[in-house]
Order: sequence, then structure tokens, then C-alpha cells
Amino acid sequence: MRPAAFQPQLQLFVCANERAADAQLGPGCGARGRDVFAALKREAQRRGLASSVWVTETKCLGVCPKDGCALAISHGGGVFEGVSVDDARALMASVEERRRE
Ligand code: FES
Repeated sequence: MRPAAFQPQLQLFVCANERAADAQLGPGCGARGRDVFAALKREAQRRGLASSVWVTETKCLGVCPKDGCALAISHGGGVFEGVSVDDARALMASVEERRRE
């Protein structure tokens, strides 16, 4: 094993996990997560951050919110729930600021 030659400065993991509608843990972030993922990718592109801030769609992050989706930020940036498309701009602005620190 060795460190990858190309690594992000920060990485955002966006849950888009799908479960059955009647699953005990709920249906998952599913389409809400996919929409947030797409909005964050667009925002990263718009800010010229696509190569340094990676946005990655994932399975369950263990939070399973009833609204929005779950999102985790690498390097100790925290785990969030109830994230919506409307949060994409502010989230990427805070990530951009954090990247400068
Ligand atoms: S289904 Fe999204 S965090 Fe569990």
C-alpha cells in the first residue's frame, strides 16, 4: 500500500443511499442526496475547486435524516444531516475558506 499520487485538499461525501420505502431505517437519502451531490459538483466547478475539493457520492453514512441528506467533510470537517440543495453554495464557501486555513 502507498499514498495515492493525486489527493484532494478536502473531500465531501454525500449520501445517496437508497432503501425500500418501508425499510426500518427509512428510505435513505436517495434522490435528495443525488440532487445535493449534483449541486455541490456544480458549485465546486463554478469556484474552480474541482481538482482540489472532491465531491463523492456514497452509501449510508449512518445518520439517515428524514429530510435532506447526510454529508461528511474529510479532515475532521464534521458530519451534517438535513442538507439540501439550498445549502450547496454556503457549504462550498465554507469549504473554500477552510481550504485556505
Ligand atoms: S441513508 Fe443517508 S445517511 Fe443513512
